[in-house]
Amino acid sequence: MTPVSRHPPSRRIGIIGLGMHVPPKVLTNSDLEKIVDTNDEWIQSRTGIRERRVVEPGTTTSDIACLAAHDALKAAQLDPRDLDLLIVATATPDMLFPSTSCLVQHRLGASAAVCFDLSAACSGSVFAMVTAQQYLLTGRYRNALIIGAEVLSSFIDWTDRSTCVLFGDGAGACVMAPVKRGGILATDMGSDGSAASLLYMPGGGSKHPPSHRSVDQRMHFLRMNGGEVFKVAVRRMADSAKRVVKQATLKPEHVECFIPHQANIRIIEAVAKRAALPLEKVYMNLQRYGNTSAASNLIALYEAVQEGVVTRGDHVVMVAFGAGLTWGSLLLQW
Ligand code: COA
Repeated sequence: MTPVSRHPPSRRIGIIGLGMHVPPKVLTNSDLEKIVDTNDEWIQSRTGIRERRVVEPGTTTSDIACLAAHDALKAAQLDPRDLDLLIVATATPDMLFPSTSCLVQHRLGASAAVCFDLSAACSGSVFAMVTAQQYLLTGRYRNALIIGAEVLSSFIDWTDRSTCVLFGDGAGACVMAPVKRGGILATDMGSDGSAASLLYMPGGGSKHPPSHRSVDQRMHFLRMNGGEVFKVAVRRMADSAKRVVKQATLKPEHVECFIPHQANIRIIEAVAKRAALPLEKVYMNLQRYGNTSAASNLIALYEAVQEGVVTRGDHVVMVAFGAGLTWGSLLLQW
């Protein structure tokens, strides 16, 4: 049974500021038709995606992470020098080491913050928020900046039509701290390493260090069994969302907004059905950004709040799924 946590109102952790950044360059489905054998109709009907953003060559994950972080810190009215904890969730770091969070810390001037990266692929921002919540509940840390940031365009095989149409670049950020009202009411996380081969990048690590062979075999690009990922994603996200709703002693009808990982409209529709969450309460922006992995849930939350879809007092369920496999959700009151 996956462990689930609940917290009394006296010690609740919430979001006090949100930020996001997507690169300005838009790559539409029609643009992709010129790169691989695909078409707009196929991509939209199978995924719901119309376009995605991609960085210019030379722009890194830490670059876009910093831009999202600036917004979140400003919204939280927090001076970077007062930041205690900084976690960057990413599957596409600038380098294997140092961590992208250390690079971001330096550029933000957050010299007092403890920094580390968190690797949970598309579940990254939800995992990082739950991790930060645990640190903050101890009282040892006063605040935390969570960033989900990805430059997936550098790790996508632009000759593979089954994957290159799905992903995009972007960053989302939030500042978390103890709150007097609302905040996180329930959390749930899980992992299954036995299915690691469904979504992975074989090259560049200790198993297949960079070599002529690894490059020739295109090992430094993402590989995926899309059909299997689809099935597991639906089951894991729906069951996780159901668990947090139950643990918060709520019912699906009490949830005002559902913010799923923005992978595929058909996955999201199937999750909503299985978790008994009405589709009109499900927020989606994947049509504009595609799957931005660890950035996805935070970008979606940012836009849902900006658009007034999420308002004060609302119960919001964030749920994610990614390589690993990993999945997680949290229920928070805005
Ligand atoms: N354009 C046109 N045709 C494409 C294509 C593309 N971009 N990509 C694949 N196809 C083709 C396939 O080659 C296949 O052709 P074939 O029948 O001649 O072999 C056909 O379309 C059907 O492919 P299939 O894989 O059955 O499609 P699908 O309905 O399962 O959709 C995905 C494919 C990838 C969209 C779907 O499996 C999916 O979304 N999976 C989850 C991926 C995901 O979200 N991953 C991240 C999780 S965090």
